[in-house]
Amino acid sequence: MILEVKKLETGYGKLGVLRAVDLSVGKESVGLFGPNGAGKTTLINAVMGMVEPWAGSIFFDGKEIGGSRTHLVARAGIALVPQERELFPGMSVADNLALGAAYVPRAKGIEKRQLDMVLQLFPILKERFSQLVGTMSGGQQRMVAIGRALMANPVLLILDEPSLGLQPSIVAEVFERLALLKKEFSILVTEQNVRESLKAIDRGYVLENGAVALEDTAEGLAKNPHVLSAYLGI
Ligand SMILES: Nc1ncnc2c1ncn2[C@@H]1O[C@H](COP(=O)(O)OP(=O)(O)O)[C@@H](O)[C@H]1O
Ligand SMILES: [Mg+2]
Repeated sequence: MILEVKKLETGYGKLGVLRAVDLSVGKESVGLFGPNGAGKTTLINAVMGMVEPWAGSIFFDGKEIGGSRTHLVARAGIALVPQERELFPGMSVADNLALGAAYVPRAKGIEKRQLDMVLQLFPILKERFSQLVGTMSGGQQRMVAIGRALMANPVLLILDEPSLGLQPSIVAEVFERLALLKKEFSILVTEQNVRESLKAIDRGYVLENGAVALEDTAEGLAKNPHVLSAYLGI
């Protein structure tokens, strides 16, 4: 397994959020579904070293990373596309992308290759290469954010609600591109938009009230009665 989360418990102050969460990601694309407030971002923040685990462990590539500093987690090969895009709006597409590879030893010397890959994945970014990111549409900014994460040459790409706030046509496009990426990267993607993301994942977990409510293949989830009624509105 690339990422292995075992019996993870954490929260904020006195508020417990995650309860004995087990989750793993191999060379595959894994979805993490659940309603607002379920704890999806908290789990990702724990993996990224932004939230301290209270109990349990987080292994990346066989090494314990629970409680590690965020820059060391990034250096080990995990790249995050956060829920808030956190781009530099006053800088160009080119500069935002370049920052994704800066200070990451595993991206050193292969910046050009990574950039070619990103521009091939999102050709619109090639057209807008010198444009200031703050003047671009939400969908284009999301593509810059994903591209920036890819510039770090990650082993595991984590995306926190990539469809949030985007028009349906752009959402479909983003998941189409993610489906292409799963051949080359391990992916963990959180989503409330279960319908679209099922097309881009191999397996998924449903997180409810901080605990894993169910775990299945994309096909299994797509016909699960609870998923159908709670997430697909059927
Ligand atoms: N920084 C924080 N401080 C205190 N509570 C938080 C913080 N971030 C999230 N929470 C709480 O933790 C719970 C899980 O939130 P979150 O992980 O953001 O869920 P999701 O990403 O699934 O919507 C919620 O009850 C939320 O209010
Ligand atoms: Mg969230």
